[in-house]
Amino acid sequence: MAEFKYLIFDGDIVPYEDAKLHISTPAVRYGATAFEGIRAYWNSNVGQLFMFRARDHMDRLLQSAWLMGMEGIKYSSEELISMVTELLRRNSVRHDVHIRPSLFVASEGSISSRGPVCFGVVLASGNPALSNHEGVNGSMRLAISSWRRIDDNTVPPRIKAAANYQNGRMALIQAEKDGYDGAIMLNAAGKVTEEPRACIFLIRDGKIITPSITNDILESITRDSVIQLLKEAHSIQVVERAVDRTELYLADEIFLVGTALEITAVRSVDQFEIGGRSCESVTSAISETYVAAVSSNEGLHSEWREPVYDI
Ligand SMILES: Cc1ncc(COP(=O)(O)O)c(C=O)c1O
Repeated sequence: MAEFKYLIFDGDIVPYEDAKLHISTPAVRYGATAFEGIRAYWNSNVGQLFMFRARDHMDRLLQSAWLMGMEGIKYSSEELISMVTELLRRNSVRHDVHIRPSLFVASEGSISSRGPVCFGVVLASGNPALSNHEGVNGSMRLAISSWRRIDDNTVPPRIKAAANYQNGRMALIQAEKDGYDGAIMLNAAGKVTEEPRACIFLIRDGKIITPSITNDILESITRDSVIQLLKEAHSIQVVERAVDRTELYLADEIFLVGTALEITAVRSVDQFEIGGRSCESVTSAISETYVAAVSSNEGLHSEWREPVYDI
């Protein structure tokens, strides 16, 4: 039984059961799929569902597809947002929801087929992969992975492509087998990149630091929001630079940020306990600001909240 009655397949709103993709397509055979994860938050005070930074997510989706060489995409970001808005209305969604759009090469074809490209969207109530995970929105125990992060000259992490995620899957599966909640991946130079689902911030000697966008990470929209909110609401300037592994062990606080994980505190890295020297003050302060920004009609940056219903 489908959780939501309708989805989008090939640009049309159709019953959940009607979305079928052939196994011969480059989307299935070669991972020729660009995708996004967007959250929409229900605000019961005003009776409104707000998509968070939907325009930025759709811009990134189109950018990923373009970098992957896809051709013939007939939609703008605005058109993609209106289709998703219509889908949310058709499903009468009045609670928090995870929106999963993708653009994929759906013809029968070869490894280098560039189109035709199909637009699809599925909805999910939360993030099933994470919802039973005690670490999420609590605090996670992470390990540095022995799997290296892909880089800009192999499969660029800046592209949110399904195929890229095999790299993060290797790291996550290994970390879970070893009894951890997640993994931190280093790049070929041995510098910290990100967790397979989220970007990473650390606090050390009063400075908030995050790997820069040229350190083989996804250009995360939550990371960008957190940098702006820390500056505007807390007068803290984030330092973006290369980060060493042992800096994580020495950190006073570490938190992960991403659409799915939102803001999640990290308890330990390679069994080094984090934060013995301070109480997670920045992590909880930025979490509060972030929650207001995504869901409250009084939070900062009203332009980030895309209303779904006409009220
Ligand atoms: C590898 C990776 N890094 C970071 C993020 C966080 O990105 P965003 O904040 O845009 O969701 C995600 C989630 O999309 C991710 O998959």
